Amino acid sequence: MKPDIRIFKDLEKLSRHAANIFVEQAEKAIAERGRFLVALNGGNTPTRLFQLLTSDHHDKVNWNKTHIFWGDERCVPPDDPGSSYGQAREALLRHVPIPDSNIHRVHTELGPVEAAKDYSLTLRIFNSPPLDVPRFDLVYLGMGEDGHTASLFPGSAVQVSELVIPVTANYQDRPANRVTMTQLVLNQAHNVVFMATGEKKAITLAEVLSDRYNPELYPAQRIEPKNGELIWLVDEDAASRLPKELIRRFCEG
Ligand code: 6PG
Repeated sequence: MKPDIRIFKDLEKLSRHAANIFVEQAEKAIAERGRFLVALNGGNTPTRLFQLLTSDHHDKVNWNKTHIFWGDERCVPPDDPGSSYGQAREALLRHVPIPDSNIHRVHTELGPVEAAKDYSLTLRIFNSPPLDVPRFDLVYLGMGEDGHTASLFPGSAVQVSELVIPVTANYQDRPANRVTMTQLVLNQAHNVVFMATGEKKAITLAEVLSDRYNPELYPAQRIEPKNGELIWLVDEDAASRLPKELIRRFCEG
């Protein structure tokens, strides 16, 4: 499947497009399925998206029917600067009228192993029969300079049997102990949207989007929605090593 790659001048334009996708998919999912299941990513890239959902789109989403999950989480307390839940709470969740019961954070206080088991049970509550896993309406993912996504890191097992696993990985100065959804649930999504910016990711992005399939080395390649859309939102710097035929310039206003 040829990936849908959309290139933007900068993070601001990319984030505005990512926010529009959130609003569109929320409306569609609630109309078709009565609820909107969305999984957020952590890291620096999604912060502007969260701010825009707060500032520009908070009144366009039915937050009562919106359920927020995380594709992965760092095993730190919610108030820790390294908490992805904490990041989203400060930039988005405390500014919109979403019921607390619709915010499904990873219970990191349980420790990675128990938190992973606990989150798997939470996911199964939202499964989409006949599947025994939820079909997210929208999953946002990032990509590290090393090709990891969520907390699926290079060298980790490609074949998995669990929806959520504990992970220990060193990446930059970020918390090592993590919990992550695996492709068993991520690849069931209706829409997966990757966001990647910056020149430091250009070489890896070109490899991830090449025909050279190496999911052990590039975990972002493990994300192949079975029956859904795969969209890459990247800025010009991250796209600087992509072959021309893969590019469709998509500038938002
Ligand atoms: C995390 C993420 C991780 C992130 C990448 C990219 O919690 O760390 O889920 O997968 O998306 O590391 O991070 P940046 O957006 O900061 O480059």
